[in-house]
Amino acid sequence: MYEAGVVKNWGFFRDNYESLTIDDLVWINTKWDSVLPYQKSHSLNAMVKMFSSITENNLKVVELGSYRSFLGSHLIEKVSSKVAEWHGYDINHAAIEDAIIHPQIFNHKLSKWFWEVDVSGYDIFVSSHTLEHFSFEQLKKIVETVSICKYLVLEIPLQNNWRGFRGSHVLLTTVEEVESLISATHIKLIDCSRERNWVVSLWRKN
Ligand SMILES: C[S@@+](CC[C@H](N)C(=O)[O-])C[C@H]1O[C@@H](n2cnc3c(N)ncnc32)[C@H](O)[C@@H]1O
Repeated sequence: MYEAGVVKNWGFFRDNYESLTIDDLVWINTKWDSVLPYQKSHSLNAMVKMFSSITENNLKVVELGSYRSFLGSHLIEKVSSKVAEWHGYDINHAAIEDAIIHPQIFNHKLSKWFWEVDVSGYDIFVSSHTLEHFSFEQLKKIVETVSICKYLVLEIPLQNNWRGFRGSHVLLTTVEEVESLISATHIKLIDCSRERNWVVSLWRKN
């Protein structure tokens, strides 16, 4: 754990990922905050397109991997009628402490697995460049948890597995397998924007 947190030895991190507890991950991700450059991976235009095609307004959003709430603040600016409240959860506690302050944004330091969070009051689950930080087994639990939300808006980088990748991505499945997993819970794919490096998708509960 110490090596993974200090040295940024990504292979070591991946090899040992399954043995890490949530407390280890909180410690490592918070520690990385001082050595990793600002994270702002989301594709705003594609995200705006997905939010704009949702017909209801004043929705409650829960975001996994919200970092400094850049996505929440940018989306509220662009599609303000859609969002009543934006709740961001992240295990990087330094990022949460330094997150954007906004009356509609609520930042939560996550100290447990996301599937242990009660998401029953939320209409939209959002996650951008975060699902690939979980194993497929963990992803199944996340999908099961958020399948009670009316909508999912996801941005996932396109790469089939992350062996050798210089970053903390651990997912060893294709985006197609992730999409099949979501479809199996009777959540329907509504729209999708695909570029060379990422895919943004909008899903609605049947
Ligand atoms: C690549 S950053 C993406 C940040 C932002 N969503 C974006 O699109 O730029 C991945 C984020 O996921 C968070 N993360 C990784 N594992 C997590 C976990 N188990 N639970 C919650 N957040 C996690 C990291 O701390 C980090 O802020």
